[in-house]
Amino acid sequence: MSLQSNGSRPALQLTDLHPTPADLAAEVLAGLQRRPRAIPPKFFYDARGSQLFDAITRTPEYYPTRTEIAILQTRAAEIAACVGAGSVLVEPGSGSCMKVRLLLEGLKPCAYVPMDISRDHLRVAAEQVAAEFPWLEVHAACTDFTRRMEVPDSAPEGPRVAFFPGSSIGNFDPDGAVDFLAVVAALVGPGGFLLIGVDLKKDPAVLNAAYDDAAGVTAAFNLNLLARINAELGADFDLGAWRHRAFYNAQLGRIEMHLLSTADQRVHCGGICFDFAMGETIHTENSYKYSIAEFQSIASCSGFTPEAAWTDTGNLFSVHLLRVPDASAD
Ligand code: TRP
Repeated sequence: MSLQSNGSRPALQLTDLHPTPADLAAEVLAGLQRRPRAIPPKFFYDARGSQLFDAITRTPEYYPTRTEIAILQTRAAEIAACVGAGSVLVEPGSGSCMKVRLLLEGLKPCAYVPMDISRDHLRVAAEQVAAEFPWLEVHAACTDFTRRMEVPDSAPEGPRVAFFPGSSIGNFDPDGAVDFLAVVAALVGPGGFLLIGVDLKKDPAVLNAAYDDAAGVTAAFNLNLLARINAELGADFDLGAWRHRAFYNAQLGRIEMHLLSTADQRVHCGGICFDFAMGETIHTENSYKYSIAEFQSIASCSGFTPEAAWTDTGNLFSVHLLRVPDASAD
């Protein structure tokens, strides 16, 4: 806990809910033995992976970040009018807390609750928000929000608003998205809101380019997973014999990211030999794309009612405001 210079009130409260670290070795070995082979995307984000991810969001082909930011900027006043001041604003997976800054002045919440699995990153980011917005109470929670989503006891009472930007909801499969949103609905409770960014279905060429940029940043991001497995698990993936492969699967409405073996090859990892045929892939991530109506129907299955949906003029990206209906008065 750090104190403001006048010492009267803590600028930042950090509650550590002690997330269990994921087991890279167990999950990678299980994933490589499965058919089709797959490695969970959460392992992308070591220090280098996080840097590369930030670089992806700045490539000319990756439209989601800048488009979502523009929608949030344009609609900030409208969002604030719908939600009202004095809320407890909760952000699962807050990362660097960049996008929430666009909302704080307009929304005037009474408290901000960033949640992230990375404790050090969370502390630094939350301290910066607390310093930049001295009128705002910041109650950070270190947690794996996919397993435990809780507002810390230190946070004040108030109507709750959750914020989940970046189309991270697209990285769950649709059933997982319904389950996750139901947890968010329970967290904000009756009368609570969720403001969420969702990438839209569109021309597959635009989608394919966004996940396979010309400069090769997304490719480097995907391949970094193998470099990480080599470094941390002592595996011997030959990075030159693997290629980034991303494509829109129209039937399933999702971008799929894979690592493609360009030769018949044997890899050692964790004391096990893995034989890969030329052309075989390891599935590393999905990114589902939804029409406005499709996403509203997912939200309804989780107990939310759509309040508003905003898009850009190019219909690239959407920001939805959803609300849990008030408890019936019986
Ligand atoms: N959720 C965003 C998306 O699906 C960001 C993202 C997650 C991403 N993993 C990624 C972007 C891998 C590119 C590559 O677009």
